[in-house]
Amino acid sequence: MRQEQVRVLADRAALQQAAAELIVQVAQARDAVAGNFTLVLAGGSTPAGLYRLLAQEPFRRQIAWERVWVVWGDERYVAPDDAESNYRLARETFLDSVPIPLGQVFPVPTHGADPSEAAQAYSHTVRRVLDTSGGLFDMVLLGLGPDGHTASLFPHHPALDLDDDQETLVVAVADAPKPPPWRISLTAHALNRARQVLFLVSGAEKADAVYEVVAGQPDPHQWPGQRVHPPEGSVTWLVDEAAARRLKG
Ligand code: 6PG
Repeated sequence: MRQEQVRVLADRAALQQAAAELIVQVAQARDAVAGNFTLVLAGGSTPAGLYRLLAQEPFRRQIAWERVWVVWGDERYVAPDDAESNYRLARETFLDSVPIPLGQVFPVPTHGADPSEAAQAYSHTVRRVLDTSGGLFDMVLLGLGPDGHTASLFPHHPALDLDDDQETLVVAVADAPKPPPWRISLTAHALNRARQVLFLVSGAEKADAVYEVVAGQPDPHQWPGQRVHPPEGSVTWLVDEAAARRLKG
């Protein structure tokens, strides 16, 4: 089993509470050292409750929002007000309620016609944010799909091969098996430029993926979540009982 911390929480709500507590702890520690906190947001539905907690007391007042920088780990290639947009999810659940300076929130540009151009543009943004943070994100939030995908890195997808050059930070993903089909994703190389990665996984349908990624045989094309192992950071899994079923044997 890779060196990771796995915490099993009773249910989704307990997982989101634990995640909020951990994020406050890391944000305060990094702010004290570096004077800022760079956060990579996860998409999908699991983090929604976490984002709402961060926007409410007691968590809201515990983070120096004016010194937080936000990028996305992946984005669906849809308009920013589309119901499927990860940006819209974050904006509605917490960004509209906390005082992060607009110049420190970096949505993926999804208004253009060409996702590859968007990926290239976002790559420059990601590099700039990394430069403000000593070359590493302070915290990367990730979900995990039942098929072992994370961000928009899907099993056996050609986008995975762009990962191997250890330079590419952002890829355009066509024909994603999880709709919508066009996405923009940070590569595992980019996700691994992290001081702390936090996986948030809830639900029985993810039990196999959690087991295979955390404790299974190495097969990073089949289980892309296995690609997340930051050389200069740590990985914490917050998993509810249902998703941890196979891990517990
Ligand atoms: C996305 C996500 C994706 C998500 C997982 C889990 O844009 O869809 O980035 O990787 O984190 O599919 O999604 P749920 O949290 O909705 O189960």
